[in-house]
Formats: sequence, structure tokens, C-alpha cells
Amino acid sequence: MANDRSHIRRLVRRAVERVRKSHRPVHHHEFATHEPTPQQTVDIFAGQWITAFPKSLNITAGWVNHFDSEIDTRVPWAESVIPGGLSGKSVLELGPFEGYHTACLEWAGAGPIVSVEASRTAFLKCLVTKEVLGLNARFMYGDVLAYLKTSTDRYDIVWASGILYHQADPVAFLEAVGGRADHLFLHTHYFDAERVGEMNTSDRLRPKHDKQVSWHGRNIRLHRYEYRTDTSQGTFAGGPSSFAHWLERDDIEFILEELGLSRITYGVLDPGNPDGPGFFLMASRP
Ligand SMILES: C[S@@+](CC[C@H](N)C(=O)[O-])C[C@H]1O[C@@H](n2cnc3c(N)ncnc32)[C@H](O)[C@@H]1O
Repeated sequence: MANDRSHIRRLVRRAVERVRKSHRPVHHHEFATHEPTPQQTVDIFAGQWITAFPKSLNITAGWVNHFDSEIDTRVPWAESVIPGGLSGKSVLELGPFEGYHTACLEWAGAGPIVSVEASRTAFLKCLVTKEVLGLNARFMYGDVLAYLKTSTDRYDIVWASGILYHQADPVAFLEAVGGRADHLFLHTHYFDAERVGEMNTSDRLRPKHDKQVSWHGRNIRLHRYEYRTDTSQGTFAGGPSSFAHWLERDDIEFILEELGLSRITYGVLDPGNPDGPGFFLMASRP
């Protein structure tokens, strides 16, 4: 009997505790207090933006002027090399981060645009960008490799900017994207043994963990690159693993050619980039 009573008392205590917890005060910062404005929307991620919005919008966010075509030349350059320009071209964008290329592609007339982003924070920031700029592009939250396994859709252009060098399996990544379009825009860092000394981030390379894979009769080296930053911070723009593998430029060209994207036009080739040798190019079917 006494045991029964203490058991009931325990149950009541637990129930009271549960009710008490469910009535905890709501955090007020989750509620907007002013009328809806672009700035208030952008401020959902205050302190976590890298991109500066177009000056004409008078929005305070980040500091990198990706919307200024003289500073971020990638979209205008692509417009100049794609036959017929970007107008009316369907695009699959991989890793939009804060949605600036999505906007610039759309403003250049491209569409429909599907844009796949794996970082939760980056995806939600893209939705903010979409609403603030009134874009039509469709953003999807997910891993691009997993997405490409579940979809057979084809596009006029695959836009792979700043994402190849974040992949643990970059060969599989290029294979997965290579057959989806007649034009692949690729912006990436690559490994060059002769340039390691010029890299600010050379201490992230782990030559002991480099690998070699055989692909289409060629030995391809995968150079291990470790992220040392806190990958949970709002401005993190890397990949889902704690490391990536960088390819060599000759190997990237070989893979593109084997995938049928053999007409390669370089926009920028920047072997001395302190963040690692880099380039951007358009690889197209002849
Ligand atoms: C360096 S940023 C590039 C941003 C922009 N595309 C550019 O070129 O400036 C890399 C972006 O790719 C995303 N990303 C990395 N790996 C991904 C994956 N496997 N699937 C989807 N998004 C990925 C990151 O979250 C990040 O937003």
C-alpha cells in the first residue's frame, strides 16, 4: 500500500514537471516586432551573412559584393560563352550558399532554375534571398549526390560553382553531374604540388592520407584537405564531411573529356590563388 502511494506520488511529480516544462517562456527573439521589411527578414541570420545585397536595396548583411558583376564575374562570363546566352536556359545549381548566383542567373533570363543546398543554414538563407529579391528559382534542401541518384532530370546548364573541392569523392561528383547537361560551369580549387608553398591553407593538406583511384584507365590522385574551422558556424561554406579530396587540373580535364564535355573554355585560371590554385571554366559537348 505504502509502495503504491509513493508510486502514485512519483507519477504525479513527473506529470507536474512535464506541464511545467511545456509552459516555459518562449524566446522573444523568435518573434518579429516590426512590420515586415527586407532588413528584418535578412536579420533572421544577422551576423551570419557573407554576401552584401545589391546597394540599391539598402540592406545590411555581409561584405562580399557578389551582386556586382565587376567583382563576381562568373555569371556575366558564362553569359558571354554559352551560345545564345543564358536566356531561356534551364539550370541545375549545386550549392547556392546564399543564392547570389541564383539571382544573377535568373536576372540574366535563365530558367527554370533548380538549386540544391545541403547546409541547413545556407538553404534557409537562400529562402530569405529568394523572398527579399522576389526570385522564381526553386531551392531544395538536400545533398546533391543523393539528389542526382533519385532524379534523371536533364538541364541546359549544370552550375557547379565552389562545390567540387568540397567533395570527399570528387570523381563520383563529376560523374554524377557530367551527364545531366550539355554545359557544365565549373569553378573550383585544384591541387598543384608546385604551388603548395604559396597556399595560406597548406597546413590543411594531409599528403599521408592521399589516395589513388583508377578511373577509365587513368590513375587519379585524391589529395586530402581537412577543414579546421567550426563547421557549425553560420558562415561555413564547406562540405558535409570533415575533409575533402582535391583533384589535379589535368585529371579534372581528363574526366570532363571522358564524360563527353570536351569543349573546355577557361574563364579564369589562377594558379597562384592563396586559398589554393583555382579556375573557372565552361565544359560543353562539342
Ligand atoms: C563555397 S560555397 C559556394 C557558393 C557559391 N556556389 C559560389 O560559388 O560562390 C559551397 C556551397 O556548397 C554547399 N555544399 C557543399 N557540399 C554540398 C553537397 N554535397 N550538396 C549540396 N550542397 C553542398 C555548401 O553548403 C555551400 O553552400
